[in-house]
Amino acid sequence: MPIQIGSLTVNGRVYVPPMAGVTDIVYRSIVRKVDKGCLLATEMVSSKSLMYQPESRIMDLAPDEHPIGIQIFGHEPEVMAAAAKMAEAKGADFLDINMGCPVPKITNGKDGCALMREPDLAREIVIAIKDSVSIPVTVKFRLGWDDNSKNCIQFGEMIEEAGASAVTVHGRTRAQRYTGTADWSMIAHVKKALSIPVFGNGDVFEPEDALRLLEATGCDGVAVARGTLGNPWLIPRITKYLDYGILDPAPDSIEKLILAMHHCIGLMAYKGIRVGTSESRRHLINYTKGMHKSAPYRNRLTQINSAREVVDILCELAEQEGGTEGKNRFLTAVQYYDLDNVGKLMEESKLSRSDSAIREARALATAAL
Ligand SMILES: Cc1cc2nc3c(=O)[nH]c(=O)nc-3n(C[C@H](O)[C@H](O)[C@H](O)COP(=O)(O)O)c2cc1C
Repeated sequence: MPIQIGSLTVNGRVYVPPMAGVTDIVYRSIVRKVDKGCLLATEMVSSKSLMYQPESRIMDLAPDEHPIGIQIFGHEPEVMAAAAKMAEAKGADFLDINMGCPVPKITNGKDGCALMREPDLAREIVIAIKDSVSIPVTVKFRLGWDDNSKNCIQFGEMIEEAGASAVTVHGRTRAQRYTGTADWSMIAHVKKALSIPVFGNGDVFEPEDALRLLEATGCDGVAVARGTLGNPWLIPRITKYLDYGILDPAPDSIEKLILAMHHCIGLMAYKGIRVGTSESRRHLINYTKGMHKSAPYRNRLTQINSAREVVDILCELAEQEGGTEGKNRFLTAVQYYDLDNVGKLMEESKLSRSDSAIREARALATAAL
């Protein structure tokens, strides 16, 4: 059944929520390669920074990535409202407010999860944003600040009353950060108390986890973050499992290595070789997790400095995983890349704000599929 988020109708029940440093335009294009329907979000965007850098590429959206929301953080209602307007102008389908980030750098300034301790200010922010945009406004928060202040139910009620069209609840407190296990029973209480859609979030790593979360909480949808790292196929696998009870197998190693390569090339093309290779390293570690005897390769992948190096290492790994056939499959998939020139356009012309850089990145990332 579709989920109605204000004026936005969403067909899938899976949401890939914001992950700073991860859910950039390249990551999202990789997700869209394997799943056309899930709800997507950008990385969190500082409302304050936007006032100084209105041209920042962080809110750039590609035409084929809808439905997608832009998430902003901050604590000044007028600044948040101005940032929300900019997000709307960028083409976001919904505006998400970050009230869950636990990182001290964020919470020290009253941003992120600190707003759960300032419900009046949080309400003001939602109202100010609601008044300034016509797209639906959503809020992502946690169970509360710590064990002694789990106010997610009242907080959710307040958010709904202030005009939010949906919420995402991560089943941990700020104090827990990412430790322990997510408490889905508290999410169930939030769901029961609200009439807007609720996305339950926390610790979904397999399709069966998603079903268990939905059954345990009664939530409308499930938000899956870390489980998608190096494993975007989890999203369509969850949807199929929820819709038809069919558990598709995870992709084989060669498919993972091929997608890893597309992802890295996309990052290098979009961000330049230096930033692109540096950001690729941790994604490569995610894609190759669990591969048999991969430790020496993974070690080398943490030191890559060029597209050619990545291809060479992944190709060796493909051969180890799938023999000559595996190697050939990998090479066939990446043969169209101009490896020595990937990222050069960005590096040389500093096209940091250019649409053509985005087009290049996306064209490269989709070239061989
Ligand atoms: C690397 C990373 C970055 C994250 N950045 C954000 C963010 O920018 N905004 C946000 O609301 N949550 C952020 N989160 C939290 C996730 O959206 C999600 O709530 C959390 O990881 C729990 O879900 P999971 O168990 O499915 O990973 C981040 C999580 C990770 C792992």
